[in-house]
Amino acid sequence: MTVSTAAADQTVCQPLSVLGRDVRVPLVTGGEVEYAALDYAASAPALQRVWDDVAAYAPYYGSVHRGAGYLSQLSTDLFEKARVEVAEFLDCRESDELLFTRSTTDSLNLLAACLPAGCRVFVFETEHHASLLPWRGAEVTHLDAPRTPAEAVTTLERALAAREPHGPALVCVTGASNVTGEIWPVRELAEVAHAHGARIVLDAAQLAPHHPVSVQELDVDWVAFSGHKLYAPFGSGVLAGRSDWLEEAEPYLAGGGASRSVSRREDGGVDVVWHGGAARHEAGSPNVIGAYAIASACKALTEAGFDSLVARERQLVERVRAGLADIPGVTVLSLFGEAAERVGVLSFVVSGWNSSHFAAALSAEYGIGVRDGLFCAHPLVRTLLGSTAEAPGECGAPEGAAGEQSLNAIRVSFGAGTPDEHVERFLGAVRELVTDGARWTYRTEGGRCVPAV
Ligand code: ALA
Repeated sequence: MTVSTAAADQTVCQPLSVLGRDVRVPLVTGGEVEYAALDYAASAPALQRVWDDVAAYAPYYGSVHRGAGYLSQLSTDLFEKARVEVAEFLDCRESDELLFTRSTTDSLNLLAACLPAGCRVFVFETEHHASLLPWRGAEVTHLDAPRTPAEAVTTLERALAAREPHGPALVCVTGASNVTGEIWPVRELAEVAHAHGARIVLDAAQLAPHHPVSVQELDVDWVAFSGHKLYAPFGSGVLAGRSDWLEEAEPYLAGGGASRSVSRREDGGVDVVWHGGAARHEAGSPNVIGAYAIASACKALTEAGFDSLVARERQLVERVRAGLADIPGVTVLSLFGEAAERVGVLSFVVSGWNSSHFAAALSAEYGIGVRDGLFCAHPLVRTLLGSTAEAPGECGAPEGAAGEQSLNAIRVSFGAGTPDEHVERFLGAVRELVTDGARWTYRTEGGRCVPAV
């Protein structure tokens, strides 16, 4: 996907109002500080607007597709309206189906359960586990990590050209990496996939919260994302796209809501006639609050204006990259190199530091929440670190000689609700830890590094 540079000229907006901005957390060194949530790539805070919409609806909550009562009908209308609004947000085709799921992982597992017989799946080894693992019941071709967006396209082209026989095929690709934040050439990959008779599903978990995603412009067959990364943490996700494979498959979940009619046979067994459409794969009581929250977040982001959100985030990304580049011993992980377009997600290692220890110190001494580890993308992080070793379980004090390679990484991620102060505090803290070391001692507990007292 090529992201428009027009955003650079746009007015930069203020951070959007999110929950938790005034939450104060204790520091091990004494006192307390406003929490700096810099782990948006794992779960973003709820938009205040989403929270307000959910709170306003909550008294009217009722069962969806089940009850005759007024609130049941109101809730059903709200759920179906959310489906339409999210489809509009994604710029889906008229004929597309949109399913509410639990998460991106759930969405991709659902699609994996709908693959036609003999379908071959093509997936880069750099994918998040949610995109890498659901296809294990099919024939999978794992593609090596490309070192440029152009190489991603040629790698896929070669693999698709070599495939035998020419049955159904699916390419699964991320829009933006949850490790490096780098944006993938989705439109170009879709073109190659279609030229070779394959379909493509976009994992937009890290892209949709930061950039507009148009199914039609990108020409992807399906798109998946999660509410909890899109400022709507109420347990819903989305799978949207072509209906044919979904219609032809057995329901993802068997149960009420998916079944049109169930009857006993004379031999004592049970016959089922399944629904078509979205209901086919949405058995059980739908999560109306989760769906409504996603629709509310989509509206809030659209109304705020993606151009100005992108422009602001681009400034934050440049500030973090420049700030980290200026601190000795810090290496930012990158697959595509300097020129790559990025969303607000950066991973790095600090020479001589165990990443888990570093992240624990950022939290305990500065009130900053980041993530450390391999980020559910083990092959990618190991490729970037140049290591196939398991990360060590111990955190301990800063360890290893200067220059020694850490076996896991630290990730900082931010978005529409991040104030400048959080980013400045983070950069100041990284510099201080690198220069002066931690002021506290840490130990390992339950596999995590924690303050010793
Ligand atoms: N996929 C989430 C992350 O990258 C959980 O942290």
